[in-house]
Amino acid sequence: MTSIANNEKIPNNVDLASDKRLQRALEEWQPRFIDWWKEMGPEGFQEDQIYLRTAISVDADGWAHFDYVKMPDYRWGIFLTDPVKDRTIGFGDHFGKPVWQQIPGEHRNALRRLVVTQGDTEPASVEQQRLLGQTCPSLYDLRNLFQVNVEEGRHLWAMVYLLHTYFGRDGREEADALLERRSGTEDKPRILGAFNEPCEDWLSFFMFTYFTDRDGKYQLLALSESSFDPLSRTTRFMLTEEAHHMFVGETGVLRVLDRACDLMKVDKNEDARAQGAIDLPTIQKYINRWYSVSLDLFGGEVSSNAASFFAGGLKGRAKEERYEDHIALDATMTIPMVKDGRLVNEDVALRNAMNEVLRGEYIEDSQRGLDKWNRLIKEKGVDFTLTLPSSRFNRQGGIYAGIPFDPSGKLITKEEWEARKHEWLPNDSDKTYIKSLMTTPIYEPGKMANWISAPKQGIKGRPVEFEYVKRQA
Ligand SMILES: [Fe+2]
Ligand SMILES: [Fe+2]
Repeated sequence: MTSIANNEKIPNNVDLASDKRLQRALEEWQPRFIDWWKEMGPEGFQEDQIYLRTAISVDADGWAHFDYVKMPDYRWGIFLTDPVKDRTIGFGDHFGKPVWQQIPGEHRNALRRLVVTQGDTEPASVEQQRLLGQTCPSLYDLRNLFQVNVEEGRHLWAMVYLLHTYFGRDGREEADALLERRSGTEDKPRILGAFNEPCEDWLSFFMFTYFTDRDGKYQLLALSESSFDPLSRTTRFMLTEEAHHMFVGETGVLRVLDRACDLMKVDKNEDARAQGAIDLPTIQKYINRWYSVSLDLFGGEVSSNAASFFAGGLKGRAKEERYEDHIALDATMTIPMVKDGRLVNEDVALRNAMNEVLRGEYIEDSQRGLDKWNRLIKEKGVDFTLTLPSSRFNRQGGIYAGIPFDPSGKLITKEEWEARKHEWLPNDSDKTYIKSLMTTPIYEPGKMANWISAPKQGIKGRPVEFEYVKRQA
C-alpha cells in the first residue's frame, strides 16, 4: 500500500515530496490549471458550495470523501493504483517480459502521443459542458454535472503527472498545451472531433456521458494493459471514477424516457411533445448522433498506428487476459469495405484491426443500456424500440467516412442521404424544441423539470430533496 499525502498542495499517493524538482514543476502548473478552471469550467457556479466526491486514496472500500466544496477549492490529486507485484507485459512483441517503470526511448514519441490524446479529452469535455448548469433540470443533476466535471479535471491531472514525470521538457510543454487548446475553436481546437462538438442541452449531456464517456472507458481499459506501468496504474484508478459518469448518462436517459412514457399516457394522442416531454423519435435521433460521433473516437478500422501500439505493448485490448492469443500475429478480422459501390468483406491482419476490436467491445457494452431503456419503455406499455445504428452510419473518420449509409448500415445514394438525414439526426427544429424545454434552471431542492423524472435515489444515502448545491447568489 503506497502512503497517501492529502495535506500537501497536491494530494497524492506517489510520494511527490521525495522528488522536489517534480513537485515544484507540478506546483507551478497548478495555478495555471486553476486559472483555466475558472475561465473554462462551469460558468456561474464557482462560488457555490457543491456536495462532491473527492478521491483521497485508491482503497477499494474507502477511496472517496463526500462533502460540500467550492469547485475552485476542489482537491485535485494524483492517485495511482498500487503496483502489481512482478507484473509482466501482457501482449505484443515483448509479451512475458517485465513491465517498464521508465519509458524505452524507441516508444517515447508514441507513448507521449497516447498520453496527450487521452489528456486532451479531459479538459475538452469540461469546456463543452460549461454552460449546462444554467439550464439544469434539478439540483441533483447540477451536482452530477459538476461531479463529472471535477473528475475530468482530475483525469487531466493524471495525464499531466505522467507528462511531467516521464517525458522531460517535451512533456512539460505538452502539459501547458493541454490548458491552451479550446474545445470547438478554429485556431486551437481539441485533438479529437467529438470533443469539439457543442454539448448544449441536457439530452446531449446524458448522451455524451453514456456514449462518449464510454469511449473513455474503453480507451482507459486498453491503456491499463500498457507495458508502461505508471500509465497502467493511473488509468486503472481513472476507471473507478468513470463508472459514475456513465451512470449519470444511463440513468439520465432512463429518467427522460420514464417521463416521456408517463406523459404520453395522459395525452389523448399519446403526444409527448404536447405534454412538454421529449418524444421517443427525438431521443433516437440523439442516440444516432452521439453514438456515431463517439464511434469515430476509436480511430480507423484499418490502422498501422494501432498495429504498432499493440506490437510495442503500448496499448492493448480491453481486458486482454480474456483473449487466448496475445501476440495476434497470424490472426485476421473480417471487415466490410466499400468496393465499387458495394460492401465486400475483407480480411485484415488482426493487429491492424485493433481499433475495430476495441470498437466492437464498446458496441456490445453500449447495447446493454439500450436494452434497459427498452425494457422500461415496454413496461410502460409504449410500443417503441430504441436501437443503435450501424457502425457505418454517419461516420466522419475511418473507412466509412463521408460515405452515405442509412441507420441499418445499407449503402444509399448521396441524394437519399440528403433527403433523409433529418429523419435520422437531430434537425434544427428538434434542437430548438429540446432547448425550449430547458430555458430556466431548477434550483429548488427535490424539484424536477417537467421533461425528466426524479431519480430513484439521491447521492451517497442522501435523499433526492437534499440541497446538493448551495447557491451563493
Ligand atoms: Fe475522464
Ligand atoms: Fe468521464
